Amino acid sequence: MPDGHRYPAEQRDAVYRVIAERRDVRRGFLPDPVPADVLGRVLAAAHQAPSVGFSQPWDFIVITDRARRERIAALARRHRDEFAADLPGARARAFDRLKIESILDTPVNIVVSCDRTRGGRHTLGRHVQPRTADFSSVLAVANLWLAARAEGLGVGWVSFFDQRELAAELGLPAHLEVIAYLCVGYVTDFATEPELAIAGWARRRPVSWAVHAEEFGRRGLPGEEPVDPLAEVTAAIGPPDAAAMTAARERQDRMTKPRGSLGVLEEVSVRLAGLAGSCPPPLPEPACVAIFAADHGVHAQGVSPWPQEVTAQMVANFLAGGAVVNAFAAQAGAEVTVVDIGVAAELDPVPGLLPRKIAPGTADFTAGPAMTREQATAALTAGIEIARDLVAAGNRCLITGDMGIANTTASAALICAFTGADPAGATGRGTGIDALTYARKIEVICRGLELHRPDPADPTGVLAALGGFEHAALAGFILGAAALRVPVILDGVIAGAAALAAAALAPDVVAACFAGHRSAEPGHAIALEYLGLRPLVDLGLRLGEGTGALLALPLIQSAARALRDVATFDSAGVSDKL
Ligand SMILES: Cc1cc2nc3c(=O)[nH]c(=O)nc-3n(C[C@H](O)[C@H](O)[C@H](O)COP(=O)(O)O)c2cc1C
Repeated sequence: MPDGHRYPAEQRDAVYRVIAERRDVRRGFLPDPVPADVLGRVLAAAHQAPSVGFSQPWDFIVITDRARRERIAALARRHRDEFAADLPGARARAFDRLKIESILDTPVNIVVSCDRTRGGRHTLGRHVQPRTADFSSVLAVANLWLAARAEGLGVGWVSFFDQRELAAELGLPAHLEVIAYLCVGYVTDFATEPELAIAGWARRRPVSWAVHAEEFGRRGLPGEEPVDPLAEVTAAIGPPDAAAMTAARERQDRMTKPRGSLGVLEEVSVRLAGLAGSCPPPLPEPACVAIFAADHGVHAQGVSPWPQEVTAQMVANFLAGGAVVNAFAAQAGAEVTVVDIGVAAELDPVPGLLPRKIAPGTADFTAGPAMTREQATAALTAGIEIARDLVAAGNRCLITGDMGIANTTASAALICAFTGADPAGATGRGTGIDALTYARKIEVICRGLELHRPDPADPTGVLAALGGFEHAALAGFILGAAALRVPVILDGVIAGAAALAAAALAPDVVAACFAGHRSAEPGHAIALEYLGLRPLVDLGLRLGEGTGALLALPLIQSAARALRDVATFDSAGVSDKL
């Protein structure tokens, strides 16, 4: 029997049970001391962890002294405050409610360290990958955490420390690194879900997203067909919930205000309820704008007065916090994420930048397809995954942003392809071009449409022929949000073109879309009309980046909050109109 060494069912169940029920605990600790024999068993379990070359690089520093814990708690508090100061509005409020350490609430703290030099230079495995020493100490933490759960002990991991400050407090020799600071004690209760999931800060990714067959990207569980993220999201997108919409309309009519007096915002709240399938719907916060940046081969046709390098330069500006989108996001309390989906430059890794480059810019669509079908699918999939990850990270409203010199040309071409509009009517002046360039831009779009004769029934083919990587990725982003029933606020003409592609793939996607504003680009109005979306703001903006959508964020949030918070005539005892 190949499974002859398997444990009896009851023991196996106990192993899986301790794995499932291990929790990071921060609340409800009891002051009772942990008996030495129990602590000894837990530490012995930690010490049995696997380690690279059997180097056993860990040490365990057991801290019970109150004064020392008070000094350490002060260090953690300082870093907590620094982190909080960096968070956008809704995130900062949510973080305020979170408990992130229990240094003083627990009777014992244990520091797990790592000696990256232990065993000398011939430690098996570590010579190629020095990080394996740290990995080994982490495995000791995992053993400790599981054994503690079996003993009924809660463990909370605190990482709000500066290495050097903490090392000095603990008298750690210079060659030792702190791997984990753990707070350990008996508890009133173990939560069934991670505290951060209960608090709505983040949610668990489904295991099927994390398992790949043979190659990265072929997602699927063993024994099941590989999942195609695009097919999965288009299948998951359904119509809005009619009952929730009816409930929202009825509630709007009973709210202490004249019927219909919130105008368009009443319909916004009804649509949010329909999307969420509940009345009132959850507040669309925290919100995150994802700026998809890419370059365009059609730039070579002289359709923009700006050099192509500006795309990469603006990406640097977004990441440095110096663009209009940063100012508007800060004002609206939204987070900014930048995605390199196809910038024609090498970008250094920095926090806030998601490196998802499909290729350094598309090809010129007047000479051939802008991208291959595989590239279009890869960009769509990247957009889907970014939407999923941002929602898993706790965002409840996604906002489209874009950056790409010459992307209004690709947008106008896509809008013509999907709606049948005439290029002369759908093409705008982008960042501002003279009459000659404008005429050339229209002619370039006509040539592209003539060359590819795009079939709107094949949206991926249309994106591949004429689109930019940011259009394809934004289409995926919009689909990903809709599949999770999270609202997505569309910015201007680039998002409008992408939404047309998304709607061609899954018509019900429109239920998740809110048009942030109407841009000055004529193609945008055509796209919104075609999608049946009413823009919330109309200020003649033509910047892109996500700026127009960010201005609409407080409107959409206010619509949701009003539906949730405003009293009704019956509840407030206010007389209704006769
Ligand atoms: C490397 C690491 C560092 C962590 N640091 C902190 C921390 O500073 N504060 C905190 O409250 N939780 C911290 N946690 C706990 C995680 O937030 C927690 O494990 C996660 O939410 C999953 O919940 P669960 O452990 O209950 O399944 C840390 C966890 C790990 C693995």
